[in-house]
Amino acid sequence: MFQIIRKEVLNPSVTLMEFDAPYIARKAKAGQFVIFRVDEFGERIPLTISDYDREKGTITLIFQIVGRSTQKLNALNQGDYIQDLVGPLGMPTEIPEDAQRICVIGGGVGCAIAYPQAKQLFQQGKQVDAIAGFRNKEIVILENEFRANCSDLTICTDDGSYGIKGFVTNALQEKIDSGIHYDCVIAIGPIPMMKFVCVVTKKYNIKTLVSLNPIMVDGTGMCGGCRVKVGGKIRYACVEGPDFDGHEVDFDELMHRNAVFAEREKECRMMALADQTGGEN
Ligand SMILES: Cc1cc2nc3c(=O)[nH]c(=O)nc-3n(C[C@H](O)[C@H](O)[C@H](O)COP(=O)(O)OP(=O)(O)OC[C@H]3O[C@@H](n4cnc5c(N)ncnc54)[C@H](O)[C@@H]3O)c2cc1C
Ligand code: FES
Repeated sequence: MFQIIRKEVLNPSVTLMEFDAPYIARKAKAGQFVIFRVDEFGERIPLTISDYDREKGTITLIFQIVGRSTQKLNALNQGDYIQDLVGPLGMPTEIPEDAQRICVIGGGVGCAIAYPQAKQLFQQGKQVDAIAGFRNKEIVILENEFRANCSDLTICTDDGSYGIKGFVTNALQEKIDSGIHYDCVIAIGPIPMMKFVCVVTKKYNIKTLVSLNPIMVDGTGMCGGCRVKVGGKIRYACVEGPDFDGHEVDFDELMHRNAVFAEREKECRMMALADQTGGEN
């Protein structure tokens, strides 16, 4: 059992939870994730380790409330326990050692995954430009954390209610057009966002890492659920990723595979809603 020692609502659909998990905190590196189960009947759900404190023995997870398991997790509070937390899983992010100037791009809750990358690179003395994109001002998260851990932060909103109006790809293109040379770009967010960042960076031959989010079950390379096509070959994101060379990823296949359980996920969301409202829905 793992205790929630802090809960913070970052926006109406995104919550931060800090867990007492000393063994995971001791080994965690940027880019890695955990798999949790809320209770003994729960699904196994992957979430990225957004931050860790080795001295306190805690890890921080930031999650978007999208379906049954994240609704159940969000219903818990400081002091409550979850059943299991396994990790750190996956490979830590590997940036070419000679990369000096890096652009870290996050989209929506993808910023929770991009943030530890920016922080680690900035602490290593790299020049880190961060671009964070959101639909609107109300759902901006981690602004202060990014500002403290990068050389420059650009916030974009789709509707222009905060920062610059437009998509992260527009901000990236503007930076490149202004003469900035990036040795590497890291893009983490919705699949279409990562795909179109790669379209931009491919023109300039800028190495681009993306963090993939296929359906995961065991997280240990046994079930095959998380298979993705990269460079024409089958790779298993839970053990070989989740970071891959974005120019090699078959994003269309990933989108297709992630939609396979859409109907069942919708049913489960309705069940969770019914649980919460005592069966009125
Ligand atoms: C390596 C990795 C790291 C992730 N890190 C984060 C994170 O830091 N913050 C965050 O908000 N989300 C993260 N996700 C996505 C998160 O796992 C899903 O949002 C979550 O599983 C949804 O479960 P649900 O029951 O609430 O929703 P559901 O209604 O069951 O599903 C909603 C959507 O979530 C995805 N999903 C569902 N089950 C799984 C599963 N077992 N594995 C992967 N995706 C699934 C599907 O795309 C689905 O359409 C990550 C996914 C992966 C693979
Ligand atoms: S989650 Fe089962 S092989 Fe990756």
